[in-house]
Amino acid sequence: MRLGILGGGQLAWMLAQSAEPLGVSVAVLDPSPDCAAGRIADHVVAAYDDPAGLDEVSKGADVVTYEFENVPAAAVTRLAEHGMPVLPFPASLTITQDRAREKELMSGLGIKVAPYALIDSADDAAAALEAVGAPGILKTRRLGYDGKGQVRVKSADDLPAAIAELGGTDLIYEGLIAFTRELSVVVARGTDGSLAVYPPVENEHRDGILACTLAPAPDLSAEHAEAAQAIGVAVAEALDHIGVLCVELFDTAEGIVANEIAPRVHNSGHWSIEGAVTSQFENHVRGVLGLPLGDPSVRGVAAMVNIVGTEPDLAALLAIPGASVHTYGKAPRTGRKLAHVTLVADSAEALAVPLAQARVLCDAAWDA
Ligand SMILES: Nc1ncnc2c1ncn2[C@@H]1O[C@H](COP(=O)(O)OP(=O)(O)O)[C@@H](O)[C@H]1O
Ligand SMILES: [Mg+2]
Repeated sequence: MRLGILGGGQLAWMLAQSAEPLGVSVAVLDPSPDCAAGRIADHVVAAYDDPAGLDEVSKGADVVTYEFENVPAAAVTRLAEHGMPVLPFPASLTITQDRAREKELMSGLGIKVAPYALIDSADDAAAALEAVGAPGILKTRRLGYDGKGQVRVKSADDLPAAIAELGGTDLIYEGLIAFTRELSVVVARGTDGSLAVYPPVENEHRDGILACTLAPAPDLSAEHAEAAQAIGVAVAEALDHIGVLCVELFDTAEGIVANEIAPRVHNSGHWSIEGAVTSQFENHVRGVLGLPLGDPSVRGVAAMVNIVGTEPDLAALLAIPGASVHTYGKAPRTGRKLAHVTLVADSAEALAVPLAQARVLCDAAWDA
């Protein structure tokens, strides 16, 4: 079998790694000549909406998938016109490309989301404050990631300047959720509607970027764990999503509140390569190719630590007992994810020391 992937970054790289033992060959489309996945997959160097590039990446493929949600609509249309299945289906993209449509979908499913108001001009500020209050967060509806495209609004007086700062239109203003911690849930769904639901994980961010994931989320009540998984399943089914998706969540005293949906493999699922029986990457490959899904159970407990900004000290990381290092081969840059480390143990106690060691090295790379 053969899989085409739009995007050739580290997510595509790990998808290609998990495809290889299944005998599935991979081609990626990515305009960057030195993208991570290009090291192990056939690489078509072209823009995402380049017709010749799209034809090339889908040549001989059974299905085309993607590693990022901002795939241009023109790309999906071109592939569809040539009879090439694109999975997940376009609905997964069109809804998750827009924070407003995401929230609308989830509240329609009875899932709790932050109170929000849409802002399309400076004149909408008063009504938004009336509906949502302050403090809050103003976000661009589209193209935000890693905390980019959003501004904290501490008091009502700050909103007009925030609106101007983010371009004045196509914005969403959200009430600030008083969460105790952030969680996420990864769900894989097969072409037959079968499901593999990973345990909810706890995520810690730094500078708006994921820093560390603990799997499963420590001390999560059965009630909150079930609620989180039910949210993932409800979203996957409502979208008729095929493959992996992730829903980012807030854990609060009043229950689970959903934040945003990623229609793809997610950084908070990287732990699953070593930490789960079947990884999110393999389950995405299996799902979109119509193969049976694998077991999402955790092997004990796992943690994932991101290396951001500067090259990891490889020898120091490898000196941590049990550390598995994944280096994406990308040029260092402030705020850029360059690698991650996964630790797996039988118990949280056994994980504590290696995790603390990994975190020190991660912080050092981030600060350098
Ligand atoms: N409504 C909210 N209330 C409280 N914190 C929020 C809210 N929205 C976002 N955040 C914080 O900002 C981070 C980034 O926001 P998010 O919506 O996930 O955007 P991104 O696409 O950049 O990940 C979240 O992980 C969370 O820490
Ligand atoms: Mg997020």
